[in-house]
Amino acid sequence: MPERILIVDDEADARVPLAMLLRREGFEVRDASDGKSALAECASFHPDLILLDILMPGMSGFEVCWRIKAAPETRLTPVVLVTGLSGTEERIRGINAGADDFLSKPIDFNELLARTRSLLRLKQYTDELEHAESVLFSLAYAIEARDPYTHGHCERLAEMSMHLARKLKLSEEHIGALRRAGYVHDIGKVAVPDATLLKPGPLSEEEKRVMRKHPEVGERICAPLRTFRPVLPIIRHHHERHDGSGYPDGLRGAEIPVTASVLQLADVYDALTCKRVYKAAYPHEIARSIIVAERAEHFDPRIVDAFLQEEQTFFQIERRFSEELTAQKVPSLVSA
Ligand SMILES: [Fe+2]
Repeated sequence: MPERILIVDDEADARVPLAMLLRREGFEVRDASDGKSALAECASFHPDLILLDILMPGMSGFEVCWRIKAAPETRLTPVVLVTGLSGTEERIRGINAGADDFLSKPIDFNELLARTRSLLRLKQYTDELEHAESVLFSLAYAIEARDPYTHGHCERLAEMSMHLARKLKLSEEHIGALRRAGYVHDIGKVAVPDATLLKPGPLSEEEKRVMRKHPEVGERICAPLRTFRPVLPIIRHHHERHDGSGYPDGLRGAEIPVTASVLQLADVYDALTCKRVYKAAYPHEIARSIIVAERAEHFDPRIVDAFLQEEQTFFQIERRFSEELTAQKVPSLVSA
């Protein structure tokens, strides 16, 4: 499939010949004469690259660029700002607007082709990366769907963990890792048979052994993705316990990555307050008292303290999901 290029320029004399030349090189090309129609083309044409004039009547190229980079569906689309301006100030404005590259007018076609091909190669890599990430998220959803009682668990966990991480003043990288981990932390359960995963009674020793492999299996599944590196310690260690009695490595205290401890507390709160195949849902107050009673044995005390300061947020997240489920008329999944 030919790669798609969108040319945005208010001057037809600049736009039309450029479109012809690029079509001759095998690209699929569309053009737009102002910012508004450029944004409409982005939504319908889904370009792989945008050549964007800066000086246009109405919305400037800077603003169009900023809007393209602010929208989640186009934020990774490369934008080349084409300008007659050569000052440093304009380039800085362009960089601040999120531009990936610049070309000066009059355009040297060979330079344009070289830059276009290089940016398209990069776009292909990011597309592949996005695709790989979305495959992992889809797999995580598929695993969640095996157990009807864990509906919405991934979203709740991502939200609760991020609140707790902010309370603990963790870095943006840690917060981003916790958002992803909320979805993929149990991805290793793909290796756990339904008979074990959905068993209403206590697990046998062998079933426990298989279940306890899920953090390591999950880590192996996500390991090839570079962007998941900060997520790997969370996946591997989200069942460790502060007193060293957890798995898979029996880490204790400060040996446990703080992000893993954050996710674990949110995971336990969600498991306690939701109905599961093996238990009824507990009200918030009971879940809270269980967590407090396990302070320093199961949990990092600092994280329990942060949870106690954020407990209303946890309660509200849980209640919002329960109400949404009630509205969807899925009574068997609603917390009792
Ligand atoms: Fe788990």
